[in-house]
Amino acid sequence: MAAETTAQGGRSPAEQKELVARYAVDDLFERGLLLPGMKLGLGTGSTAMPAVRRVAELLAEGKLPGLRGVPTSFQTSIACEELGIPTFSMNSREIGGALDLAIDGADEVSPQGHLIKGGGAALLLEKIVAYNASRFVIVADSSKEAASLGTGFALPVEVIPEARVSVMKALEKLGAQAVLREGVRKAGPVVTDNGNLILDCRWKALEGGRSPIDPASLEGEINRIVGVVENGFFTKNPPRVYLARADGSVETRDFGN
Ligand code: A5P
Repeated sequence: MAAETTAQGGRSPAEQKELVARYAVDDLFERGLLLPGMKLGLGTGSTAMPAVRRVAELLAEGKLPGLRGVPTSFQTSIACEELGIPTFSMNSREIGGALDLAIDGADEVSPQGHLIKGGGAALLLEKIVAYNASRFVIVADSSKEAASLGTGFALPVEVIPEARVSVMKALEKLGAQAVLREGVRKAGPVVTDNGNLILDCRWKALEGGRSPIDPASLEGEINRIVGVVENGFFTKNPPRVYLARADGSVETRDFGN
């Protein structure tokens, strides 16, 4: 994930995350896009968390009765438990595998509205939630804007442990340099919430800094490798993106819903 450096003369990424998350939840509520009784997917990470907290505040104020939350990670489920947001699994009768709205963060956002997600290793449930939501919303600080994807922030690919080496070789054939994600304050690799491993993949930029890959086609191609569970390209459910600026303003871009 992006380094937490203070933006010169402006708001730090941490301040931008708090600001954009709260702004987005309030804006969705005021526009009638976040309503009582809705089935709401709740994302993971340091930008999704203040959004979850703002949803909990609206719930506590009695403005979202009957809200049904679906958390995308252990991090988010614990937050929901602590904040009193009722949660359900995607498979529950209350959710029935489909959501009205999902709100999440992103590691990179391209000018086409394509995303890289999974810096927190929660991409699998995040994608199940995002791709089964009628409206998908991203909240991000200004450091997440990227001219193209694949050469900057590494693409996370979730793999079955037994397929680590074979998938790594297949990814190398697709031109990627793949690295097993190591744990922090834990010996050995990161193990995802689903018991899998993460390979972080980066492509070498072409002359002029251009990316050699097309995320929209590579998203499906990577998932066809035996042993891959999911990858962090999100190109199939165009999001509404709330992007914070260092000056404290928020830009909204609607890529499709
Ligand atoms: C979690 O796996 C990710 O997809 C996060 O949504 C993404 O890494 C953004 O995280 P931050 O909001 O913490 O930067």
